[in-house]
Amino acid sequence: LAKVEIELASIPEGKNVIVKWRGKPVFVRHRTQSEVDEARETKWESLRDPESDEQRVKKPEWLVMLGICTHLGCVPIGESGDFGGWFCPCHGSHYDISGRVRKGPAPLNLEIPAYEFNDAEGKLVI
Ligand code: FES
Repeated sequence: LAKVEIELASIPEGKNVIVKWRGKPVFVRHRTQSEVDEARETKWESLRDPESDEQRVKKPEWLVMLGICTHLGCVPIGESGDFGGWFCPCHGSHYDISGRVRKGPAPLNLEIPAYEFNDAEGKLVI
C-alpha cells in the first residue's frame, strides 16, 4: 500500500498542510500549546461524537485527520468556523481544533487515518 511521508520540520507551529493520500486529502496541523490546551479543556463527554483529544492524537502538537466532512464528503476549510478549527461550507458544519464536530449537520468527528511517526527521521508516515 502506498505510504506518504511528510517532513515535520517543514510545517511551522500554527500551520496546516494538506497532503494527498490514496486520492483523499489529509489535514496535518502543527498545533500551538494554546490550541492543545483548548482541545483538552473541552468538555468532550457531551459532544455529538464524544472523543477526548487524547484519543484523537498520538502527539499533542500533531493533529492528523482525513479532510472529508462526515456529512456528505466536502473538504472543510482550515482556520475557520466558530470553534477555531475547520468549517465545511457545503452545509455549515463546524469542527474544533481537535477535528470534533461541534455544530451543523455532520454526524461524526473528522476521521483519523492510520499513521505513525518516524522520530529518527522527523517524519510522519501515513
Ligand atoms: Fe460538510 Fe454537508 S458536506 S456540512
